[in-house]
Amino acid sequence: MEIQLAVFDLDGVVVNTDEFHFLAWEQVLLDKWGIRHTRQAEELTKGIPRYTCMELLAEHYHIDASPEELRRVADEKNLAYQNLLRTRLSDKQILSGIPETLRLLREHGIPTALASSSHNAPFIVEKLGLKFDFCVDPDSVAHGKPAPDIYLAAARRFGLPPEACVGVEDAASGMAAIRGAGMFCVGIGVPAMGGGADAAVSSTDQLPGVFGALLGLPPALNWAAGFSTALAAPAVPTVGTTVRRLSHMAGFFGDQPAVRALLERGEDPVIYEFHELAAPEHPGDLSFGITTLYPGGIGGECYMTKGHFHRELDTGEVYYTLRGSGMMMTENMDGVVRWFPLSPGSAVYAAKGFAHRMVNTGDEPLVCFFAYRADAGHDYRTIGISGFRRRVFRRGGKIEIEAAHTHTKEEPQ
Ligand code: F6R
Ligand code: ZN
Repeated sequence: MEIQLAVFDLDGVVVNTDEFHFLAWEQVLLDKWGIRHTRQAEELTKGIPRYTCMELLAEHYHIDASPEELRRVADEKNLAYQNLLRTRLSDKQILSGIPETLRLLREHGIPTALASSSHNAPFIVEKLGLKFDFCVDPDSVAHGKPAPDIYLAAARRFGLPPEACVGVEDAASGMAAIRGAGMFCVGIGVPAMGGGADAAVSSTDQLPGVFGALLGLPPALNWAAGFSTALAAPAVPTVGTTVRRLSHMAGFFGDQPAVRALLERGEDPVIYEFHELAAPEHPGDLSFGITTLYPGGIGGECYMTKGHFHRELDTGEVYYTLRGSGMMMTENMDGVVRWFPLSPGSAVYAAKGFAHRMVNTGDEPLVCFFAYRADAGHDYRTIGISGFRRRVFRRGGKIEIEAAHTHTKEEPQ
């Protein structure tokens, strides 16, 4: 699809004011009926208009009150909630990944709208300085969620067909509204895992990645959030990022005059970068990460990673291609050369004893996930001195693999 509008629910998607709702219900239930509100009962109220919440809570707590009285208490709860918003709302309530998502959409000229059933929505976004191009007035639509009306109203405001719009929700009723409207549905959290969304993510951290993909951008993931571990220590994994430019690997390419000419012109392109979890260097642990190798070439020779043997020679490695196309070039100490195509969805095993290098033969970034024994270590020197026995070229759209005549002279690191 070509995305032309992004429509967001507010609570649980853009901000989290759950705690304020809880505190407000807690206060009125205690003041009015001496009830101690519980987190479990609060679950009944998520994503539901306040009068319905009050009816559900009255049933749950066996409250005997007239409908008028229930409505009055629900209104009091709203006043208590608004008071909390006025006094305690801060950046802390903005969910992670949201500012980045809104910035990304703005940079690509995609308008944004808010489709919240809450009358407090304009106040919240205004106070937090979040910019949306349009906020649908919930009173302007005939039916609330799960009816599609509020999402359709957003699309109509921009004169767009629903198929060009993406809706984001965390609650089942909201996802039903998006689907009913005929929009692409991005769902967040457990309700989305049940199959009700076109794209399901576990948290808002992942929204920049989802919208990046919808905009056709190369994956730009939030590594700190994307790597989850149960390591004893550190509790929060550290992710190391390494960027290698042409100047870091000038001697690796066959056409040395071409390399020198580029560097002298002040051009020093990024050839690849990788992000790796700093797992303890212990034989029982696995290190894993992602390498992005950019498309391009020097004198026709395709961009490649440096390549290495593992210091612990007897350790293999798995590469799984997420995006792009290329090859894994490997060779062992006896000169046995093996290479394998890399394409999305395929896994390649770089066997123990084989030096390995990625080569990008395509037009887009080649992105691979890798995993290997955390204490394997890297020996760049052995293969760096002799160079790989094969070089990969792309000439006139054709891929050619040639025996290497020149050997790497650069002092490997
Ligand atoms: C780890 C491994 C990969 C590479 C990465 C960069 O053992 O094979 O993580 O380290 O693709 O390539 P090099 O290390 O060759 O610069
Ligand atoms: Zn390796």
